[in-house]
Amino acid sequence: MLFDFATIAARERYKLMVSTIVPRPIAWIVTQDLQGVLNTAPFSFFNGFAGEPPVVGIGIGSHEPGRPKDTRRNIRETGQFVVNLVSEEVAERMNITAIEFEREVSEPREAELTLVPSVHVKPPRIAESPVSMECELMQIVELGKESGLVLGRILAMHVQDDMVLDPVKHHIDTPGLQLIGRMHGAGWYARTSDLFKMDRIPRAEWKPGSGKIERK
Ligand SMILES: Cc1cc2nc3c(=O)[nH]c(=O)nc-3n(C[C@H](O)[C@H](O)[C@H](O)COP(=O)(O)O)c2cc1C
Repeated sequence: MLFDFATIAARERYKLMVSTIVPRPIAWIVTQDLQGVLNTAPFSFFNGFAGEPPVVGIGIGSHEPGRPKDTRRNIRETGQFVVNLVSEEVAERMNITAIEFEREVSEPREAELTLVPSVHVKPPRIAESPVSMECELMQIVELGKESGLVLGRILAMHVQDDMVLDPVKHHIDTPGLQLIGRMHGAGWYARTSDLFKMDRIPRAEWKPGSGKIERK
């Protein structure tokens, strides 16, 4: 069935996107405003976009037209943020921080999160997250009136000690992190425990036109 985005409303386009672009990793972002007031919220229009330089991107909307979400406003004003990743264990606490509280309510306090000072940036990281990335703003690509794509450079990454398999080779126990992804509709999430392996095919082993791998 064809859905022509020129003929359907924004809300319906959003529904089609979030029910098909899945699973989406979740950036659980800590920021501070210019007065130092802390903010925490999850965002699943999120991914890594380059290895060199190490760049993450997050699409952040508005509470209402002309009022950007606090996270985007804080990043624009301070140029700093911390992306924490979300494991199964902390999923419910992440959900608490997505409540659209009044500005004066502290989400980390409501979710009983432990905040640990960062090394390079002012916003702290969430101790309960198995992975945290200290980031500085590179650029905000304004996406019309309602949204902005925040591009940030990763300055440092914290990984839970027992999830580091080899600190010299930088090998991480990815399945052990038990990270979750956001799925479709209201409130569906995916675990990252249903894995399968598929090796890359060396060029020498693929004979074009034959449709199969010829192992030597
Ligand atoms: C799992 C999850 C993913 C979300 N992803 C996004 C997103 O990608 N973009 C967005 O604008 N809001 C997203 N939200 C909603 C925000 O978290 C919510 O509006 C939050 O209150 C914003 O907080 P802030 O104003 O403190 O920045 C998401 C919510 C949840 C629960």
